[in-house]
Amino acid sequence: MDAATIPLLRADDWLSRESTLLTPESCHLLPSGNQMPLLGLGTWHLSHHTVNSLCSALRMGYRMIDTSADYHTQRGIGEAIKACDADRDDLYIITKVDPDEDGYEATRRNLAQMKLNYADLVLIHRPPKEGLHEKAWDGLRRAKRDGLVHDIGVSSYSIHQIEELVYRSGEMPAVNQIEWTPFGHSPSLLDFCRDNGILIQSWSPLTRAERLNDDRISGMAARYGKTPAQLLLRWNLQQGVVPLPKANHVQHQRDNLSVFDFEITTADMIKLGSFNEHYSALGRLLYI
Ligand SMILES: NC(=O)c1ccc[n+]([C@@H]2O[C@H](COP(=O)([O-])OP(=O)(O)OC[C@H]3O[C@@H](n4cnc5c(N)ncnc54)[C@H](OP(=O)(O)O)[C@@H]3O)[C@@H](O)[C@H]2O)c1
Repeated sequence: MDAATIPLLRADDWLSRESTLLTPESCHLLPSGNQMPLLGLGTWHLSHHTVNSLCSALRMGYRMIDTSADYHTQRGIGEAIKACDADRDDLYIITKVDPDEDGYEATRRNLAQMKLNYADLVLIHRPPKEGLHEKAWDGLRRAKRDGLVHDIGVSSYSIHQIEELVYRSGEMPAVNQIEWTPFGHSPSLLDFCRDNGILIQSWSPLTRAERLNDDRISGMAARYGKTPAQLLLRWNLQQGVVPLPKANHVQHQRDNLSVFDFEITTADMIKLGSFNEHYSALGRLLYI
């Protein structure tokens, strides 16, 4: 698709967002002016054959990949990009640093592992247990100034933790990456993020496959002629939330991309939202 005709979505215009804007080529427009695909591939516990899995995904059309040093997939991601002869600038690479690391040095280390010159997005992986996170956030801000990363953000932060970060640094995170499913989410955090132009990315959007056989989900998915996983991903997309499903299996990878050819009705979106029980695959939602 010609760059000039890529449908762009903004975090703050969600009320007027039309589903016709949800296409495989569409992108979110970040406040920085950078663009992010609507859906990506998670790589936590991706198979030992990271390179093969990623090559299959890249050939299939995935453009965004989520990783972190502790997923042990960064080297494989770099190798896959090379092996598939993918154009780096067509891809969107997300990685993370720990809250007690120097964000600048950790970003450099991550890039070295992937043999890349820049990341599109680097996140503080989780909120610090206590206090602030000067070294991590200030390091990321420096990495952004130096062009090592295009946008910076956080993961699993509550509203209060984001407010504190912004109060101290004056810099709004571009993204809050959090666990987000019909069974566990927070409408107030979504409203806060939309109001502040922060994009929500959802990790474990498929409940780590723990709740895919819930009768209410499978029954509704069947009505749309889709799988439970596809229903959950589409529920994310229609809220302007960016899902990062992980899939080793090629068929799963393919199915997870096939979520742009149906639309969940408003009544069913509300119904799915009503399943909220603050469920977390980890036992507790970190941002509540
Ligand atoms: N920021 C953070 O703190 C944080 C925390 C956790 C995760 N993450 C990121 O989010 C990504 C996704 O989360 P996750 O890996 O925890 O879990 P997930 O994506 O919710 O679920 C992955 C599981 O779902 C299965 N699956 C995938 N597609 C499917 C389909 N179409 N039908 C049926 N089953 C399907 C996968 O099976 P197969 O693999 O066998 O295909 C795998 O068992 C991670 O990989 C990571 O990149 C970030």
